[in-house]
Amino acid sequence: MVKLRSSAYAWLLLLVSMPVLAGRSGEPVQPIQPPKEINLALADLGKKLYFDPRLSRSGFISCNSCHNLSMGGTDNLKTSIGDHWAQGPINAPTVLNSSLNIAQFWDGRAKDLKAQAGGPIANPGEMAFTHPLAVSTLETIPGYVREFALAFGDDTIDIDRVTSALAEFEKTLVTPDAPFDRWLLGDDAAVSDMALNGYRLFKESGCVGCHNGAALGGTSFQKMGVVEPYVTQNPSLGVAGLTGADADRFRFKVPTLRNIELTYPYFHDGEAQTLTEAVDVMGRLQLGRRFTAAENQSIVAFLKTLTGAQPAFILPQLPPSVDATPRPEPFQR
Ligand code: HEC
Ligand code: HEC
Repeated sequence: MVKLRSSAYAWLLLLVSMPVLAGRSGEPVQPIQPPKEINLALADLGKKLYFDPRLSRSGFISCNSCHNLSMGGTDNLKTSIGDHWAQGPINAPTVLNSSLNIAQFWDGRAKDLKAQAGGPIANPGEMAFTHPLAVSTLETIPGYVREFALAFGDDTIDIDRVTSALAEFEKTLVTPDAPFDRWLLGDDAAVSDMALNGYRLFKESGCVGCHNGAALGGTSFQKMGVVEPYVTQNPSLGVAGLTGADADRFRFKVPTLRNIELTYPYFHDGEAQTLTEAVDVMGRLQLGRRFTAAENQSIVAFLKTLTGAQPAFILPQLPPSVDATPRPEPFQR
C-alpha cells in the first residue's frame, strides 16, 4: 500500500483501507477505486499549481476557477468565463474522476491528463498566458523552486514538470464511496427502491450502452442525437472539429455521470439546466423513448446516488511572490 506522508491525503488512506464486501457481479457499472499509486510530493506540488492564479496572464484565474473543487469540479455555468471575461465556447466538464477517461476534452483531443493540462494555461480564452511566461514566473518564487526540487530531484522548472504535477494531483480527484458504490459492494440498504428502479430503467432502456464502467461514461465517443437530431446554437462540432468527417459531427466523449447532481448545467452547450431535462432529452434523442414523469423521477433518483466522497484536503498555502516576481496586470489588453 502507498505510504502516506502527509495528513492531507488521510481521506484517501481511509478509502484504501475500507473493508471489501463480496459485491455484485455482472453489473455494467463498477465501484470507483481509490488511485493505486500516487507520488505524494508531485501531487502536493500539483495541488498548489491547481489553485495558483499566477499560471494565468491576469493573475486571477486558476484551474479551480473553472473546475471548482467545492462545486463538483465544475463552474456550474453554461460555458466558462475566461481571460477578460471572455465567454467560453463550451461547458467545462468536471475534473473529478477525469483520470478514468479514455481521453480528455469533449472531443478527446488530449490523450491524457498531462497532455490536457498545458492547454488552458496558453488558451487565450482561458488563462491566456504562455508556457514560457508561466514557467519564468514560477522560477522567481523560491518556495516553488524548493518544491520542484523536492518532487523531481533537481530544481529545473519547465512546462513538462508543471503538467506532470497537475496530472498527478488530478489522479487523486476520485470520488469513491457513493451510495450506489456501497450498493454495488453488497449493501442493500444503501439506495432507495425508487433509485433501484431507476437503475433498472437505466439498464433496460439502454443508457448503459454508452454510460458504463466505473465512471458511467468516459469510455467512448458517441453521437449526440442518435434517433432525433440535437438542435443547438453552440458551434462545437465534436470530433468532426478534429477530423472534418461528417460522420463525426456531434460525436462527443460520453460524459461521466459520477457526481452528476453537482455538475449542472448539462451537455456540451450547458443547455439542459436540470437532470429531469437531461434525462428527458437523452431518452428521446438517444433511445427514442419518452419516459413518464415517474420513470424520469426514478432515473434522476438513481443518478443522485452517484455522488461520491468529494476530495477533502487542507487548502494549499501558495508560496508568496517575491520582489522579482512579475506582477499581474489583469486589465491590460
Ligand atoms: C476558463 C475556464 C477554465 C480554466 C481556467 C481551466 N479549464 Fe479545464 N476545461 C475548461 C473547459 C471549457 C473544458 C472543455 C474544453 C473542451 O472540451 O473543448 C475543460 C476541460 C478540462 C479537462 C478535460 C475533462 C474531460 O472530461 O474531458 C480537464 C482534465 C481540465 N480541463 C483540467 C484543467 C486544469 C488542470 C486546468 C488548470 C491548468 C484547467 N482545466 C483550467 C475550462 C477551464
Ligand atoms: C448513444 C449513446 C448514449 C446513450 C444511449 C445515452 N447517452 Fe447520455 N450522453 C451521451 C453523450 C454523447 C452525451 C453528451 C452529449 C452532449 O453534451 O452534447 C451524454 C450526456 C448525458 C448527460 C449529461 C452529462 C453532462 O455532464 O453534461 C446525462 C445526465 C445523460 N447523458 C444521461 C443519460 C441517460 C439517463 C440515458 C438513458 C435514458 C442516456 N444518457 C443515454 C451518450 C449517450
